[in-house]
Amino acid sequence: YTAQLDASDLDKGTYPFYMIKEIDEQPAVLRRIIQEYQDEAGQLTVDQEILDAITASDRIYIIGAGTSMHAGLVGKNIIESLVGIPTEVHVASEFAYNIPVLSKNPFFIYLTQSGETADSRQVLVQTNKLGYKSLTITNVKGSTLSREADYTLLLNAGPEIAVASTKAYTGQIAVMAVLAEALRKDLGFEAKFDMKHELSIIANAIQVLIDEKDHVHALATDMFTDKRNAFYIGRGMDYEVSREAALKVKEISYIQAEGFAAGELKHGTISLIEDGTPVIGIITQANTAAHSRGNIEETRSRGAKTLVISMKGLDREGDDIVLPKVESLLSPLVSVIPTQLLAYYASLDRGLDVDKPRNLAKSVTVE
Ligand code: G6P
Repeated sequence: YTAQLDASDLDKGTYPFYMIKEIDEQPAVLRRIIQEYQDEAGQLTVDQEILDAITASDRIYIIGAGTSMHAGLVGKNIIESLVGIPTEVHVASEFAYNIPVLSKNPFFIYLTQSGETADSRQVLVQTNKLGYKSLTITNVKGSTLSREADYTLLLNAGPEIAVASTKAYTGQIAVMAVLAEALRKDLGFEAKFDMKHELSIIANAIQVLIDEKDHVHALATDMFTDKRNAFYIGRGMDYEVSREAALKVKEISYIQAEGFAAGELKHGTISLIEDGTPVIGIITQANTAAHSRGNIEETRSRGAKTLVISMKGLDREGDDIVLPKVESLLSPLVSVIPTQLLAYYASLDRGLDVDKPRNLAKSVTVE
């Protein structure tokens, strides 16, 4: 593990914490993934063997823990939308002891930044015994899950030191987008958009958002000072990102947060909204924008302190953060950025050790 780190990667430089350094690295991580996964003709591609194994299967099972599982939720959407292969996402520690009914020819994708998570490995040991093909998407070359799976795709994101994962989340989504694109080409389906071009536009969009970090810091201070709980809401992809956004703020600021499906709020959770309860709404999908906006409004009218993150084109006057417009299927790569920053500044404002939150470890090697 140590072997591949070089001094510059391990140096915080002028950054107060690794987490903010790693947030800043995300445009470079995306560009490196585009670089690493193109063939001589400049086309995004992965090993043909991997494509053959996946196209021979009838269903993909994505296994992960924590932030990696959340990246899987986004990956599922991308894979199903581009190639239509049914894809399920499972929490490793649940799957290991409550194996669902599997399809005839399953293919397993293990998402793990470290490649060492015991919960995920426990599933891999079982699927290996059952003889199912597997791919590990990881940041660590030669890690246990990489060695024990049939195939590996690397994030090439450089070491991630902060416990709260940031660049591995976006890196994993980008690699799954590359994989889905390679599968699409292999299956001969028509392209709905130029994946390589979109990923490079996204790298620039992430940079734009990172450059606005002082604005996000002010919003974080305003939203979270003296608050004990918070809600992130959205629909579809925005719901997936809400779950990751809530996890991030829980991990490092200890504010109890929940990522919730915006439309489901009214069926119970909205009773928790009091005067001043922070509600962060994410709006990037045209087909649900109006409804999500309505749901955010419902919380505001019950006293919530709301913050709206919307995508250009779907934005309204008064929205707090407007994301550059990108392909909607890949929107999590940009919408997650301000939520990482919100969590970072909530933790920083509280004077906590952002990189080493209490009770947590970077890599959990016990079940
Ligand atoms: C730990 C970390 C999380 C991480 C999870 C999965 O719990 O604190 O940040 O998301 O493990 O780690 P992995 O290395 O498998 O992605």
